[in-house]
Amino acid sequence: MGMKPKPLSVALLGTGRISETQLAPALASASGLRLWSVLSRNRGRAADFARRHRARSREPGYDRLDEMLADPGLDAVLVATPDALHGDQALAAIAAGKHVFVEKPMVTSSADGRRVVEAAAAAGVTVGVAYHLRWHGGHRAMERLVRGGALGELRHMRVQWTWPAPDDSNWRAGSDVGRWWSLAGVGTHCLDMIRWFMVPGCGEVVEVRSATSNAVWGGPRDETALVALTFESGATAEFCSSVQFESPSRVEVYGDQGYVIGNHTLGPRGAGTVFTRAGMVPYVVQNPYVGELADFAAAVRNGRPPAVDAREGLRNVELLEEIK
Ligand SMILES: NC(=O)c1ccc[n+]([C@@H]2O[C@H](COP(=O)([O-])OP(=O)(O)OC[C@H]3O[C@@H](n4cnc5c(N)ncnc54)[C@H](OP(=O)(O)O)[C@@H]3O)[C@@H](O)[C@H]2O)c1
Repeated sequence: MGMKPKPLSVALLGTGRISETQLAPALASASGLRLWSVLSRNRGRAADFARRHRARSREPGYDRLDEMLADPGLDAVLVATPDALHGDQALAAIAAGKHVFVEKPMVTSSADGRRVVEAAAAAGVTVGVAYHLRWHGGHRAMERLVRGGALGELRHMRVQWTWPAPDDSNWRAGSDVGRWWSLAGVGTHCLDMIRWFMVPGCGEVVEVRSATSNAVWGGPRDETALVALTFESGATAEFCSSVQFESPSRVEVYGDQGYVIGNHTLGPRGAGTVFTRAGMVPYVVQNPYVGELADFAAAVRNGRPPAVDAREGLRNVELLEEIK
């Protein structure tokens, strides 16, 4: 009684941008977990990353996943490698009895996604997917308005998130460790926002229509994607993702009684403004990465699903696969 539960000891897989700038710092401040060990293709880089971010294991740097997973002190892994590596790494961790928190998109095929869902259920481990925007204070204020009925019945939603990539050298643009470009970078987040707001009141997505373009660099992947969705209730939604131009991001939710708009809220920080016809909606700025990790830790501890579970991660990928 009154004792703090032991924090989850978690490993980071991948030492790239999201691990360095968001996940490792968030691990240092989120309650319920701590950085334990690090996997890199290069053992020295893993050890260096582990030292800088104060990983707690005595030997925290690994270049082999099987060795890392054999550590009985390890409780969970955060998968932050390129998209097409997520599935096999998650399955290996599940097979070792570890809980898994996977960066978005969870996998790059629905077949892999089904394997993750089934393996997690059979092993009794928790799998969560890192849609951090659900932990943005402004989006949570929008969600309270929507769920509280302030907009009436939902009719439509529109999301746009774009950025200008400097060139097509990113692994998402063409290599076999990716599958989509704008859709994996930001479109999957747009889709998750739409599903989070719409599915509870409007039912499942029943139709997907889309247009994609690769006109600037002519590579194999989407540079821009436009996607239109229809839900069981007849409500509609649309999103635009692109690596070809800068725009102020938008999250727009429309009901028969009103609307709520998030302006410039999509991104790594809990920033931007939220407003309705009545004016600005105040919210408390919070680090969304701390929120998603604390939720994952609480889900493991309490044996309940995380905010985005493997089934929802799979549903997102199934819809990405329908985009032409
Ligand atoms: N939720 C968010 O806000 C957000 C934002 C950005 C990215 N992400 C997701 O996080 C994941 C990583 O993205 P990132 O932007 O951090 O990518 P990144 O900077 O390229 O880092 C990926 C890391 O994975 C490791 N890796 C292992 N095999 C690799 C390979 N064959 N090619 C390249 N890297 C390899 C590398 O670490 P070593 O060199 O140490 O092996 C690399 O640094 C992606 O799934 C992405 O969608 C999420």
